[in-house]
Amino acid sequence: MRTEEPRAFHLADYQAPEFRIHTVHLDFVLEPEATRVTSRLEIERQPGNGPLVLQGEDQKLLSVTLDGRALVAGDYLLDDKSLSIGKVPAKFTLEIVSEINPAANTALEGLFLSSGMFCTQCEPEGFRRITYFLDRPDNLSVFTVRIEAAKEQYPVLLCNGNRMDGGDLASSDSNGGRHFALWHDPFPKPSYLFALVAGDLGSIHDHFITMTGRRIELALYVEHGNELRATYAMGALKRSMTWDEEAYGREYDLDIFMIVAVSAFNMGAMENKGLNIFNDKVLLASPETATDDDYARIESVVAHEYFHNWTGDRITCRDWFQLSLKEGLTVFRDQKFSGDMRSHGVQRIQDVRALRGRQFPEDAGPLAHPVQPQSYIEINNFYTATIYDKGAEVIGMLKTLVGDEGYRKATDLYFARHDGHAATVEDWVKCFEGSSGRDLSQFRLWYRQAGTPVIEARGAYDAAARTYTLYLTQSLAPTPGQPDKQPMHIPVRIGLVGHKGAALPATLEGENRAGPDSRVLELRENFQRFVFVDVAQEPLLSLGRDFSAPVIFRTPYGRAERAILMGCDHDDFNRWEAGQILAAEIMLEVASKTRADADSHYISAIGTVLGKAEADPAFAAEMLMLPTENELAARKTPVDPEGIHTARLALVRAIALAYRPRLAQLYEHMRDEGDFSPDSQSAGRRALRNACLRYLTAGDDEAAAGLAEAHYRSATNMTDMIAGLAALTRMESPLRDTAFTHFHDRFKADPLVLDKWMGLQAGSPLPDTAASVRALMKHPAFDIKNPNRVRALIGAFGGNHLRFHAASGDGYRLVGEVIRTLDPINPQVAARLAGAFESWRRYDPARQALMKAELDAIHGLNGISPNLFEITGKMLG
Ligand code: TRP
Ligand code: ZN
Repeated sequence: MRTEEPRAFHLADYQAPEFRIHTVHLDFVLEPEATRVTSRLEIERQPGNGPLVLQGEDQKLLSVTLDGRALVAGDYLLDDKSLSIGKVPAKFTLEIVSEINPAANTALEGLFLSSGMFCTQCEPEGFRRITYFLDRPDNLSVFTVRIEAAKEQYPVLLCNGNRMDGGDLASSDSNGGRHFALWHDPFPKPSYLFALVAGDLGSIHDHFITMTGRRIELALYVEHGNELRATYAMGALKRSMTWDEEAYGREYDLDIFMIVAVSAFNMGAMENKGLNIFNDKVLLASPETATDDDYARIESVVAHEYFHNWTGDRITCRDWFQLSLKEGLTVFRDQKFSGDMRSHGVQRIQDVRALRGRQFPEDAGPLAHPVQPQSYIEINNFYTATIYDKGAEVIGMLKTLVGDEGYRKATDLYFARHDGHAATVEDWVKCFEGSSGRDLSQFRLWYRQAGTPVIEARGAYDAAARTYTLYLTQSLAPTPGQPDKQPMHIPVRIGLVGHKGAALPATLEGENRAGPDSRVLELRENFQRFVFVDVAQEPLLSLGRDFSAPVIFRTPYGRAERAILMGCDHDDFNRWEAGQILAAEIMLEVASKTRADADSHYISAIGTVLGKAEADPAFAAEMLMLPTENELAARKTPVDPEGIHTARLALVRAIALAYRPRLAQLYEHMRDEGDFSPDSQSAGRRALRNACLRYLTAGDDEAAAGLAEAHYRSATNMTDMIAGLAALTRMESPLRDTAFTHFHDRFKADPLVLDKWMGLQAGSPLPDTAASVRALMKHPAFDIKNPNRVRALIGAFGGNHLRFHAASGDGYRLVGEVIRTLDPINPQVAARLAGAFESWRRYDPARQALMKAELDAIHGLNGISPNLFEITGKMLG
C-alpha cells in the first residue's frame, strides 16, 4: 500500500546545488546479481549551509568514507531515496561503496541486463540506482571509470570517453579469467549522460575525418550475427557528422564515437557522451528484415542522438523543466537533416502527421502541458510529444521569424555562450533576441501556454480596388490549470492562388514593390487585418504553408475550392493538406449520415494526383493516404468508431472503383527493378506501389486476397512483404492464415521481425482481434519484460481504433489488464501504454463508463508506481 502521495516538483522551486562534485572515480565489479560499485567523489561546497544530500535508490550501502575516515551510523542519514551527511568540510573526498542487483532490474533504469549483457540507462534519474550521487543535470563532473568483469562472458567493456588502459587480471581463485578496462571522459557531464556496457558483442568499425582534419574512430556494437545489419546505421552516422559540420558548424570532440544496440530498452535511443545506446529496433536493418520506414527511422534516430553531442551533452539542461531545450531543438535538427537526405516536402508531411497524431490529442486532453512544464510528479512521464515535437515546432517558428541567416547567428551565439554549461530555455531565447535584436517576450508564451491555438481566416476581395483583405483571428481553449490564455505570437505563412493556380504576388498595403508569392504574416493579436494590394483577381488563400505554426488553421472554403488547392497550390505541404481536410470532411459527413456518397470534387482531384504520380512517387503516396481513423476521431465528438471505420472504407472503395485501371498501371510501373536500395527515391516508388495495392485490394474479397498474397509471395524486401500482409490482415481468407504462418516460420528466430507480425495482427479490423492478441501474448516470442514486444503487440492494439474501442469493452479490458500486470515490472512503459485512454471523455457515455472503469481499476492498483499514478490521476481528475 502507498503510504504517502507522490510529491510534485515545481520549476519555481529551483535552487542551485549547494555542492559540486568536480570529479568522480567509479569502480565497477560486475556480477549479474551483485555488482559492487565504488565511487570516489571530489566535492566542494557552494554558497549555502545545508547538509550534503545524495540521491540513491534500490541499492545496499556497504560503506561511506569521508577524507579517509569511515563514517558510522550516526554520521549520516539513510532512507530509501537518499544519503545525507550533516557536517562536511568545504572541500572533501567521499568514498561510497554499494551493491546493486542488475539481474533484478526489470524497470530498465540504472544498470540492467539485456540479453545477458550489462547496460545502463541513466536519463533522467537512473544514475541514482547505480550509486549515491548529486543526480541532477546541473552538476557537471569529470568521470573516470574502471570496469572489471569475467573476460569470457563480457569480453567487451565500454564506457564514455577514451579508453586509457585495460587488460587481464591475475586470476587468484577458481572463477579467475577476469579483466578490466579504464575509461576517462575529459568533458564534464551530468550523471544522466553516464553509460556503461559489458558483454559479448560483435562490432563494425569505420572512421570519420572532421572539418579540421581530426580522425575519429567509429564503432557500432551489436549482438553477434547482427554485424551486417549495422552497416546502414554506420553510413547514417557519417552523414550526420558531415551535416552537423555544414549546417551548424559543429565538430565532434572525442577521439572515438560508439553506438551499442540492445534489445531491452524503454525508448528509442540515448545520447550518452561518446557511447550512445540504442534500442536495436532503431539501429539494425537489412532488406530482408527492415521496411523503408525502418530505414528512415534509423537514419533520423542515429542523427538525433549524434546531434545531442552538442545540443544536450556539450550544452545540457539546468533542470528537467528545460527538457525541450535539448529535445525540441534536437528533433528540429534531425527533421531538417532527414529533409536534406530525402525530401523536404514529404518529410514535412510526415512530421506534421506525427505531430497531429500524437501531440494535438495530448494538447486537447487531460495530459496537456506546456513545452516548458511548471511541475511534475514523475519526470519520465514528460518525455512527451509536446516536449519533443511541439518543442521542435517552436524552434522552427523562431527560425521562420529570424530567417535562415538570423537562425545560424543565434545558434552560433548559443554554442559560444553556453558551451560546457547547463542552460535554460530562457538562455536559448535570449540568444535569438541578442543576435536578431527582436523582442520575443510574447513569443515566450509558446513555452508557457499549453493547448493548440486555432487560427480562423476570412478574406474579402474588392475587384474595383483590387484589394484582398484578410482577417485572422486566434483563440486558445483552456487547458488543465490554465483557464485564461493570452494571444500568441504566430508566424503565418500564406500565399495567394489565382484561378488556374497562378501564384499572385502578395503585396501588403504600403509596400512599394510587388511582394513575394509566399510570405510570413506575424499574428500577435486576437484579431488582425492584413490588406493586400494590386491583386489582379479574386485569390484563393493558401493558409499555413509548410505548416508554419503548430496550430489548427481554418479556412471557410467548400469542396470546390479545396479541390483546386489540392491540385495546384505551389506549396507541397498545403496541396497535401487541402486533400486531407477535404477527405476528412467527406468521411465525417458520411459517418454522421449527413451525406451518402463520396465527393466528386475529391474523386476528380485524386484523379489528377494519380495522373501526375510518377513525377514524385513519394509525394503521391502521401497524397493517396487518407486520414487515419484516429485522426478522424480527433476531429469530432462524440466519436463513433464504427461509423468512422465504415466511412473511411467507403471512401477507399470509391477511389478504387473510380481509378482501377490507372491504379493497376501505376502498380506495374512502380515495380522494383534491379537490386534493392533503401534510398528515398526507391522507397518512394515502393510507397506509391503499395498505396496502389491498398486500393486494388479494397474489395477485401477473394480476388483481393489473391492479389495481396501474390504481392507478399513475390516480395524481395520487407517493405513489400509487410504491404502484402497488411492487406491480408483485413480479410477473412484462408490465404491470410497461410501467409501469416509462412512469415512466422521464416522469421521465428528474429524478434524484431516477429514484432511486425504481431503488430499487423493487433491492428486488424476483424472482430476477433482482441482474442487473437490475448492468444499472441502466450506466444513464446512474447515477453512482457521486453518493451519492444509489449509495444509491438499491446501498443499496436491500443492504436487500433476500431477494435480498442469495441463497444463490448473487450479492448479496454485487455489493455487495462496488461497495464496492471506491467506496472510492477516496468512502470515507465506501463504509464506510456495508459496513454491509450487519454481521449476517453470524447466518446459516448457507454464507452466512457467502460474506459473510466479501467482507469479507476488502474488508479486503485495496490502499490501503483508514481508514473502510473500521475498519468491516471490526471486523466480522471
Ligand atoms: N534523451 C533520449 C533521446 O532523446 C530519450 C530518453 C529519455 C530515453 N529517457 C530515456 C531513451 C530512457 C531511452 C530510455 O533521445
Ligand atoms: Zn533526444
